[in-house]
Amino acid sequence: MITAATALYCVLGNPVSHSKSPVVHNAAFKDKGIDAAYLAFAPDNIRDAVSAIRTFNIRGASVTIPFKEVIREHLDWIDPGAEEIGAVNTVVNKHGRLMGYNTDCDAAVAPLRKFGINGKKICIVGAGGAARAVAHGIALEGGQIIIVNRTPAKGVELADRVEGIFMPVEKAGEIKADVIINTTSLGMEPDTETLSFPEQAIEKGMVVMDVVYTPVETRLLKTARSKNCATVDGLSMFIAQAAAQFKLWTGMEPDTELMRQTVLKS
Ligand code: ATR
Repeated sequence: MITAATALYCVLGNPVSHSKSPVVHNAAFKDKGIDAAYLAFAPDNIRDAVSAIRTFNIRGASVTIPFKEVIREHLDWIDPGAEEIGAVNTVVNKHGRLMGYNTDCDAAVAPLRKFGINGKKICIVGAGGAARAVAHGIALEGGQIIIVNRTPAKGVELADRVEGIFMPVEKAGEIKADVIINTTSLGMEPDTETLSFPEQAIEKGMVVMDVVYTPVETRLLKTARSKNCATVDGLSMFIAQAAAQFKLWTGMEPDTELMRQTVLKS
């Protein structure tokens, strides 16, 4: 029951209506018996939204497109890892002090560890906020990074940051990689037939990961599976980043299977 004592959490994004964060966090709060509610807000202005967190004593927030970078200057402290990535996806309100973290990076790297990262050729498609978090995590674990991106300048900039190389989209078909990770929105509903990486460069034995999770089995993953590649779906990463947020806010480990099933049912 929502009462005057209920703690409020939220996601800040614009647009935000597609976000699955409210369903997973509300399910986890209920499961753990925590008196909290989680809502979605689509502010125009992130400075005002951060001010509202302070005014209404919102205990924590998830941050998504397009605020992950710009929110940093309005917070009181940024975790060194998030600072290095250049993006914050989690705010913790610690007695009025707003602290920024990034849980995307670990969430992307964790499911890849069992396949090996050190010394592997890892092709990242995209050069936005998600790509930055993924590339940072891979670089820390010794992966050799190849960035493919529509806008070359952004691709080159990210490749330089992680001591990787840039390949233009037209040359992606020539890439021989051990792991391919799509971090763009290509393949997301409603354009589910779009493929973010050329089919001919996906070969048996590769690991293929997609951050898109609507649908859970993207065309990229379907194609990879048909060629006997190991696959990692975007829902795994989404749940892992949400679970890490929940732990930062409550100190508790949520039931990630419950979170996953909640998204699949929603
Ligand atoms: P996010 O924070 O989710 O990573 P973003 O910062 O907007 O979002 O980055 C989106 C990435 O997807 C970018 O690399 C973008 O390519 P550009 O750098 O060329 O903009 C890529 N992307 C988005 N839509 C795309 C499309 N239709 N074709 C190719 N790349 C696309």
